[in-house]
Amino acid sequence: MAREKNEMTQALLPKEKTSHEEEDPYISCSFRNTVLFAIVMLGGLLYLQAMSTSECSLSISLVAPAFGYESQEVAETPEPEIPEPEEPAQDFCAPKGLVGPLAIDFDMDKLEERFQELSESNKDFFENGEHTPENCQVQKLKNIAIIIPFRDMTKDLFRTKQFLYFLYYMIPILHRQNNHFSVYLVNQVHDDSPFNRAKLLNIGFEIAKKDGFDCFFFHDVDLVPENDQNIYECFDNPRHYSGFIDKFNYNLPYNSIFGGITAYSAEAFDKINGYSNEYWGWGGEDDDLERRTIAGAKYKLLRPEAGKSHYKMIKHGHETSNKPNPNRQKLLKAWNNHAKFDGLNSLNYELIERSNDLFFKNITVDLKYSERIPLEKLLGG
Ligand SMILES: *[C@@H]1O[C@H](CO)[C@@H](O)[C@H](O)[C@H]1NC(C)=O
Repeated sequence: MAREKNEMTQALLPKEKTSHEEEDPYISCSFRNTVLFAIVMLGGLLYLQAMSTSECSLSISLVAPAFGYESQEVAETPEPEIPEPEEPAQDFCAPKGLVGPLAIDFDMDKLEERFQELSESNKDFFENGEHTPENCQVQKLKNIAIIIPFRDMTKDLFRTKQFLYFLYYMIPILHRQNNHFSVYLVNQVHDDSPFNRAKLLNIGFEIAKKDGFDCFFFHDVDLVPENDQNIYECFDNPRHYSGFIDKFNYNLPYNSIFGGITAYSAEAFDKINGYSNEYWGWGGEDDDLERRTIAGAKYKLLRPEAGKSHYKMIKHGHETSNKPNPNRQKLLKAWNNHAKFDGLNSLNYELIERSNDLFFKNITVDLKYSERIPLEKLLGG
């Protein structure tokens, strides 16, 4: 099955080679500086100015006289001035060519053809699964990592197809929004542990933060925005993005709902200690995050403007192996007990594989199900 998947996705997605080699521009000047320093010392009270080549410079403007001497500027023939190349002040990046409402469908028969189209029209704008806008300055909190918790154990690779459809719609939208972004697909390794959405998201956060991103979208794979004016960006206060989904007639199922898609600055996510790592199986982890964020850290419950933040859900043709977690209500009730020691500060996992595809970064991890925190400790009391 895994082999079949590889063939399918590799056919669709040209692999990219990464080069981690960088030239070290450092040129050692220390010996020479030591020698020059010795000359300065020997020179005693004399004014000495040592000038040298552009690669290695030591400049001492004066040696303070011990008693009563005035330091003096020594006139020298000035070096011919090389004008610095003028760096034109760059404007902040702004969206380019937004089109507004989008027609979205998930016709699986068209997937392959559509994905080819996407690859051809967008490949020049991506490197190692990352898009960096050109000729503009990316603002703070607009270096966006889209983190997708993932595991496909279906026979027909339905989830993988969902993911390719997600990319098909999402890549052009984010490209038009014209910020620095990358999609991180975080795969839970195929073993018999229950799916753990929240822990996968914590891992994606930790990795993407190290990669230099400052805005994090915790994003289910089956949601696609229906309007590209739904701008993906972060603010100091976290936001819940997916309040208005076609499946629920674009109404909030309940007011504090926090599942689907949430956006956090690094600072805000660190402050709440991330998600709990201990929700194994379906349900509860999103409400737990809401408690940490609103009741715990006193952030406001914010969502983007309803009119522009409609989402279409890619239908689950068949329900998955992700069974409801029998402990979810107990864990949620005790959220305030385990928030302090269960989250980013207790994140343990093994990185199994990491590679870059054209449009996304692909990470596979073992979540260490056998090393989880005991339930009694989480519930406390
Ligand atoms: C991601 O990497 C894993 C491990 O190599 C692989 O099995 C999987 O097919 C890849 N996912 C996609 C969507 O290419």
